[in-house]
Amino acid sequence: KEVTGSVHRLPLIKVQGVPLRCLIANNFDSISAFRPDPSDILIATYPKAGTTWVQEIVDLLRHDGDEEATRRAPTQERSPFLEIHYPPPIPSGLSRIEKMTPPRVIKTHLPINLVPEGFWENKCKVIYVARNAKDNLVSYYHFEKMTFIQPEPGPWDGYIHKFMNGELAWGSWYNHVKDYWMEREKKNILYLFYEDMQENPRREVERIMHYLDLSLSDDVISRIVELTSFKSMKENPMANYSSMPDIFDQSISPFMRKGVVGDWTNFFTPAQNQLFDADYTKQMKDFDIPFRTNI
Ligand code: A3P
Repeated sequence: KEVTGSVHRLPLIKVQGVPLRCLIANNFDSISAFRPDPSDILIATYPKAGTTWVQEIVDLLRHDGDEEATRRAPTQERSPFLEIHYPPPIPSGLSRIEKMTPPRVIKTHLPINLVPEGFWENKCKVIYVARNAKDNLVSYYHFEKMTFIQPEPGPWDGYIHKFMNGELAWGSWYNHVKDYWMEREKKNILYLFYEDMQENPRREVERIMHYLDLSLSDDVISRIVELTSFKSMKENPMANYSSMPDIFDQSISPFMRKGVVGDWTNFFTPAQNQLFDADYTKQMKDFDIPFRTNI
C-alpha cells in the first residue's frame, strides 16, 4: 500500500545509544522535561509486550469496570503515549497528556534510563510488563510490517539479528527487561509478565488492583477480566487501534494479531532457535528473570 501524506518510514536516530523513531529523538528534550503529577500512573513496556492489554485493565479498574466509561475514546486518547510524536496533524503524546487532569495513565516504551526523572522524583506508580523474547520478537516483526512510521522489518532471518543486536526501535529487549528488573524493588515498580496474564488473568488483574490501592467487588473483577480478554479487545473499536488507519494497515496484520504464548514456534527454524538461545544465555547472564516461552 502506498504511504500517503506525511507518514513515512523514517530511519531511527539514537538517543543515549538507544535507537528511537526520529520524531521522538528530535523532540527528546521536551519529553525528558515532562513533569508528571505524583498521582499519574506509568505503564512501561518494550514494544509488543502487552501494553494495550494493561492499559485497558487499568482504565477499567479506575472506572469500576464501567464499560461505557472506557468506551469514551480510543486507547491513545484515554492513556496517552508519553514520547510519541506523529507526523502532523496527529497530536503528540505530550500534547494529549497536557490537556488531561491528573491522575493520568501514561504509556511509555522508553528504557528505564530514558524515563523522565519526574516519575521517580514524584514516586509515581509504575507498571512494567515483560514478554518472553521470542514471542515479543514475532509480535514486533508483524507490527513493523503494518506500521508505516517504523523502518521496514525486512526478511525474517535478518530481523532476528536486528532484535538480538538491539537495533530495533526502543533498542535492546535484553537491556530493557533487565534494567527495569534491577530497579523494581527500589523504585516500587510492579513487574508483570505477559505469560502470567495469559495463564491466570484474574490473578494479575487483582495484582494490579492492589498495587493501585483499589478494591473492587468480585463481580466487577470478573467483568474486567471478560472485557479485557483478547476476543473482547479485538472486537472493541476503542481498544483495537482501528482508529489509526493512517499509521496502521490492519489488512497486513491486525494489531490484535493472535494474543497467545508460544507463537514463536511457528516462525523460528531449529537453527534460528539454537542461535537465538545461545545468544540469549550470554545476554541474560547473571539475570534470573522468570520468563516462560510456553505455558
Ligand atoms: P501478538 O502480536 O502476539 O498477537 P502491545 O500492546 O504492547 O503493542 O502488544 C500487542 C500484543 O499484545 C499483540 O500480540 C496483541 O495481540 C497482544 N494483546 C493485546 N491485547 C491482548 C489481550 N487482551 N490478551 C492477550 N493478548 C493481547
